[in-house]
Amino acid sequence: MMRIAAGAMSDGRSATDVEKELAARRAAEMVTDGQSIGLGTGSTSLIAIKEIARRITQEGLNIRGVATSDASYALGMRLGIPMESLNDFCRVDVTIDGADEIDPQFNMIKGGGGALVREKLVAIASDREVIIIDSSKRVSRLGEKRALPVEVVKFGWHCAAKRLEQLGCRVTLRDSAGRPFESDNGNYILDCDFGGINDAPALEKAIKVVPGVVDSGLFIGLAATLIVGTDDRVAIIECKH
Ligand code: 5RP
Repeated sequence: MMRIAAGAMSDGRSATDVEKELAARRAAEMVTDGQSIGLGTGSTSLIAIKEIARRITQEGLNIRGVATSDASYALGMRLGIPMESLNDFCRVDVTIDGADEIDPQFNMIKGGGGALVREKLVAIASDREVIIIDSSKRVSRLGEKRALPVEVVKFGWHCAAKRLEQLGCRVTLRDSAGRPFESDNGNYILDCDFGGINDAPALEKAIKVVPGVVDSGLFIGLAATLIVGTDDRVAIIECKH
């Protein structure tokens, strides 16, 4: 007799996978003809990108994609989504992206996939930032479960790491198969474990002025709509900042 692990569906998907899929599909339904769409990065965004591509093919939607990473750009191109650069217009109608943590004020930690700099640039350029998550991403305090990713230039990164530690965290240089992970921008990612962040807006400002820092994964006041998959349901929450 086949045994199914706790939390897994009979088709092998985990309960988290199902929640991600519900949220991603609902977000893709919101896309309308003629829009420019920021294409997020990560496993939840990947589902949304595939669904947007399906709608373009089957419904003949005229959509342009703006990628938040090289991976999202490659996926969009492969699926036949007309892609444009953020430089072309410097504004985007709607961005659909995932998150690593989101708190009750709708502030977020992003950058689990190392795409935080481009994700933030596209989010800031967007009229509406739609965040798609599974229920595990909701936390009472940012930094509770995840270290905060901070992108730094390679030159003198030890000095940036020391200055970040003075802000009250433990810093780990992100690694990929035994070598330092490199972002799409050719920089390093420092994962900063604060063990819970008390004042995320203040911390974002403090990190931003550390020499060598490109940006942090703190996304303050940027989420406009939150779509959360919870079990077999999906909730849409308009974020008040
Ligand atoms: C990538 C991100 C992702 O949006 C975040 O890590 C969520 O990923 P997933 O949808 O795979 O849980 O910020 O830099």
